[in-house]
Amino acid sequence: MRTSPPAPVTHPSEASYDRRRLSQWLSGRAHAEGVSRRTLLRLLGAAGVAGAAPFAVPLAGAGPAAAATAPGIVKPLPEAWFTVRGTNAETRFASLAETGYHTPNERFFVRNHTATPVLDASGWTLTVWGDGLDHGGSVEFTLDDLKRFPAVTRDAFVECAGNGRSLFTTQQGQAVSGTAWTLGAIGAARWRGVRLADVLRRAGLGRRAVDVMPRGLDADYVTADGTNLGRVRRPLPLAKALDDVLLAYEMNGEPLPPDHGHPVRVLVPSWIGVSSVKWVGDIQVSAQPLYSPWNTDFYRLFGDAHPVGGSAPLTRQTVKSAWELEWNAGLARDTTHRLTGRSWSGAAGVVRVEVSADGGAHWWPARLHDAPRRGGWVRWSADWRPRSPGAYTLAARATDAAGRTQPDTTAHNTQGYLFDAVVRHPVTVT
Ligand code: MTE
Repeated sequence: MRTSPPAPVTHPSEASYDRRRLSQWLSGRAHAEGVSRRTLLRLLGAAGVAGAAPFAVPLAGAGPAAAATAPGIVKPLPEAWFTVRGTNAETRFASLAETGYHTPNERFFVRNHTATPVLDASGWTLTVWGDGLDHGGSVEFTLDDLKRFPAVTRDAFVECAGNGRSLFTTQQGQAVSGTAWTLGAIGAARWRGVRLADVLRRAGLGRRAVDVMPRGLDADYVTADGTNLGRVRRPLPLAKALDDVLLAYEMNGEPLPPDHGHPVRVLVPSWIGVSSVKWVGDIQVSAQPLYSPWNTDFYRLFGDAHPVGGSAPLTRQTVKSAWELEWNAGLARDTTHRLTGRSWSGAAGVVRVEVSADGGAHWWPARLHDAPRRGGWVRWSADWRPRSPGAYTLAARATDAAGRTQPDTTAHNTQGYLFDAVVRHPVTVT
């Protein structure tokens, strides 16, 4: 067995690392297959890297319309559990009231750029390759090989960076592009697999490695305007890859279902969902910075409130709360209702949730039913006894152990990422 060099101990912020990556690209020392020169020049301008000309921000096109079926999703999508949005299926948050801490596999939201590939685990291999390995070659692992590493179990949510996107429009009156999720592009599961760090070290991780890029085995993603962006892939800085990332082969005690990455997916706790590449087939380990459309044109913040040309690549999720209640739910007056919901954050566990039944004028504390956990959610409940009929606005506001509290509004970004504002949830009392 090959011995691995010690891992680098520095963990620069993604913003400062990105500036370094961009300077390296400028001097011809970064790989950016599938990313246009124009995009990289725009990012250089945004990051303020010397010598770069700032470019105008291109506005993305309109998002996909809702469809009656989800082409390419294998599992059944009963209406009571899902809202289908193009190639994706959003979990109905109200239906989570019937579930425990973990979201059952059959109710877990699906975000597919193309279609679920149905892969045979016995023929599957993972290729780890690139000039960041000390031998510069490639190493293959079968599923049985992975299962010989120490297994690790971890509770974590996977949440799309665009979860809550439609609220930019319905609550803040702002136009955004992309799938019009409400709050159900999230699920929490118990994942089992192996540490990516163990696999990288076994593959011969070299001292010069800086970026690691997992790539899915699903079909090439072609945008609405016909541009082929290749297979879904997004670089992870080595420091994160060696921290808490798993190669997961089980979800809630079962082999990964086809729609969630069978036989193996990457699981990047607390980070935006696109980092958790499904159906992983290869991982490039690079001695030079890497780019893909998923850390350049997508998954940065663009718009007036952000640096010209875009923010640093998005990493951790924000703080959110959702009621396990239909939109415009009807509630009887003079009855005590035990209302429930969940709150979560990518930075730290949620330690406090306050609720309001008058749109935020008055607040009282909700009862928390789970211990705060980074990368997980807490379930909560609040009793409410409305006295008179009419329209009411419920609101829930979470605070995490890092001191982040949900704001009243979220600064707009054109692709509608990281909505974290307090959601105004309408109900009718009769
Ligand atoms: N991995 C591949 N190969 N293809 C994809 O389309 N979608 C990403 C990520 N991994 C995607 C992928 C996005 S945007 C999200 S939010 C999560 O998977 C969703 O995971 P889920 O479908 O298991 O809920």
